[in-house]
Amino acid sequence: MGDQRAIGVFDSGIGGLTVLKEIQKRLPHESLVYLGDTARVPYGAKSKDTIIRYSINNTRHLLNEGVKMLVVACNTASAYALEELEKMSSAPVIGVVEGGVMAAVRATSGKVGVIGTEATVRSGKYVTEILKRIPGAEIVTKPCPLFVALAEEGWTDNEVAHAVAKEYLKDMEGKIDTLVLGCTHYPVLKNSIRYALGENVKLIDSAEETSRLVEEKLRVLGLGADADADNPALIRFLVTDSPERNLQLGRRMLGDGIKIDRAELVDITWGDK
Ligand code: DGL
Repeated sequence: MGDQRAIGVFDSGIGGLTVLKEIQKRLPHESLVYLGDTARVPYGAKSKDTIIRYSINNTRHLLNEGVKMLVVACNTASAYALEELEKMSSAPVIGVVEGGVMAAVRATSGKVGVIGTEATVRSGKYVTEILKRIPGAEIVTKPCPLFVALAEEGWTDNEVAHAVAKEYLKDMEGKIDTLVLGCTHYPVLKNSIRYALGENVKLIDSAEETSRLVEEKLRVLGLGADADADNPALIRFLVTDSPERNLQLGRRMLGDGIKIDRAELVDITWGDK
């Protein structure tokens, strides 16, 4: 008999839905509960302590929902809070940095660009992890905070997005063979990023690799769900503010493959004094 409990996935906003989508594609029998902290997005401009505190709120809420595994679908939270979350969590925890690093190391011939939020870039996490595996790699980093706002607004492939991408990425043109999209909001901007960098740069989106890590961990720990025709897998979408607005944005982010009926408004600060 499989473990039919849901996998919890969280992000500051709706960006982590890019990760949820890959998990659902790979593991269609798994129920998923997604939490977007839409009241407090963006995390990328916050301090380390605040990012950790918010990440703890998200984790506590999802554990209270009874999840069997936690996926931190936010690079900013993964870069700063993963160890804290592992300490507090009764369920196994998977971040997104590891998958991004693994995929980048496989793809690159040594010249890597890393883009992410201000906090993720400041953490130096990607650079340290890539250099551990490719000592001599040339790495260029750039925070791209406006990409989060563009993704949340649904402006992913228009003139404004193209101009922003061109400006942010101009120093990387011709200097990198691989670009890590070190923020889960960025994959929806792939067309604009390609417009800025051309077709030859490989774009690394950690979502696919992360879904592989989730599959592997479920298998090793014996936590996988069984297909159950009477109780098909469920996807729930929780947000901390503006459910209607985020339902529209979330649907656009997920595209046709995954249907979400509603966004549930939740308070995740209940344990704070
Ligand atoms: N999607 C998040 C990430 O992967 C954070 C965006 C933000 O809240 O600034 O880093």
